[in-house]
Amino acid sequence: MDRIVVSGNGPLRGDVTVSGSKNATLALMAAALLGEGRTRLENVPRLRDVDTMLEILRALGAEADWDPDCQDSLWIDPEGVHSPEAPYELVRKMRASFLVLGPLLARFGRARVSEPGGCAIGVRPVDQHLKGFQALGAKVRLERGYVEASAVRLRGGSVAFDLSTVNGTQNVMMAACLAEGETVLENCAREPEVVELAHVLQRMGAEIHGVGSDRLSIQGVSGLRGVSHRVSGDRIEAGTMLIAGLATRGLVRVLGVDPAVMDSTLQKLRECGAEIEVGVDSVQAGIRGPLRPVRVATAPFPGFPTDMQAQLMALLCLAEGASVVSERVFENRFMHVPELKRLGADIALSDRTAHVTGVRGLSGAQVMATDLRASAGLIVAALAAEGDTTVNRVYHIDRGYERIEQKLRGLGAEIRREA
Ligand code: UD1
Repeated sequence: MDRIVVSGNGPLRGDVTVSGSKNATLALMAAALLGEGRTRLENVPRLRDVDTMLEILRALGAEADWDPDCQDSLWIDPEGVHSPEAPYELVRKMRASFLVLGPLLARFGRARVSEPGGCAIGVRPVDQHLKGFQALGAKVRLERGYVEASAVRLRGGSVAFDLSTVNGTQNVMMAACLAEGETVLENCAREPEVVELAHVLQRMGAEIHGVGSDRLSIQGVSGLRGVSHRVSGDRIEAGTMLIAGLATRGLVRVLGVDPAVMDSTLQKLRECGAEIEVGVDSVQAGIRGPLRPVRVATAPFPGFPTDMQAQLMALLCLAEGASVVSERVFENRFMHVPELKRLGADIALSDRTAHVTGVRGLSGAQVMATDLRASAGLIVAALAAEGDTTVNRVYHIDRGYERIEQKLRGLGAEIRREA
């Protein structure tokens, strides 16, 4: 099993171009099932999760592959879908696979999708997705680990989500695009990946109003067409790189990302003492004074992203004073805490809150990656630590960060992968 060895060796400096957003890509790949004809996506990150989604689409009968002439593009042609059934062996690898359910149900009238797996960061039920499909008239059955949904044709309905769910909003929004009549979705997630999906669906021919707000109204249409789209830069990768720069007291500029979607992260980094310079599609962060402690609570967009929590916590381990980090989105997302402590961090956990007392320095050790963003947090800490850190089980990081060692090496890090 691969591991990453990091030798903490001083400040990261330079420019790094972020890849396309993983989470946006996965939803857009599912949306391609709705279109008649091919959909082509550009600026797609070469990640294990994207390959898993390609495998799922192919298992359904779609044609889908990377473009041989263009490293970061892929295409999907759903015309051959013959079996609207997504098997356990694939869905268990990645929770976002469940996003195929809405499009399959809407386009083919039936879908059978295994209950999802993915990162072990909490229970992560799909009740809100199912509530939405039922409101659109689908019959939903849970049977032996599979969700079966069917409807001759979905009809518009009203859904008020009980909580803010990104994939739930996306799944039900996609289904509603082909339902008969109007659907109103309330308490929708407003993450940039929901907005990007809505914009692409509009270009496919969908009628969606209220995009960017928590209330969407969707007028169903009888068909959608395939489109070409360039996926936007990954805000989480960008934030991770900036934090890695700050943890090593370096100066890092990320390119290829819209700073507007990083607002809450940048705000928190400023509170920590970072000096941030924002360009049209770039952000630079450096620090001259002390690294200050902060209080932070994760929340749905536009709040501080749960996907940045582990990385920020790694940074706060080195702040001059005591920080408080509350996790409000997932109930079990502190698995990086014992690993950060192995590097010398001072963190006390109580329920969903971590009290982080800054230490003078961290020191290299053997640690274990437990989930995608936890691994990123460990790499941030390792870059700032004295000596060598070995991060085991790095397959988690390959789910969400494209060529991370190469990119960090480009900023001056001493980091290598060992088989
Ligand atoms: C997406 C992102 C993930 C991010 C998360 C929150 C993708 C592929 N993944 O995950 O990186 O961390 O948003 O920003 O886009 N919930 C329910 N019932 C449901 C659905 C969700 O109770 O039917 C709960 C979850 O357990 C969690 C909370 O709602 O506590 C938010 O989850 P959700 O926004 O749905 O996360 P994902 O869409 O799975």
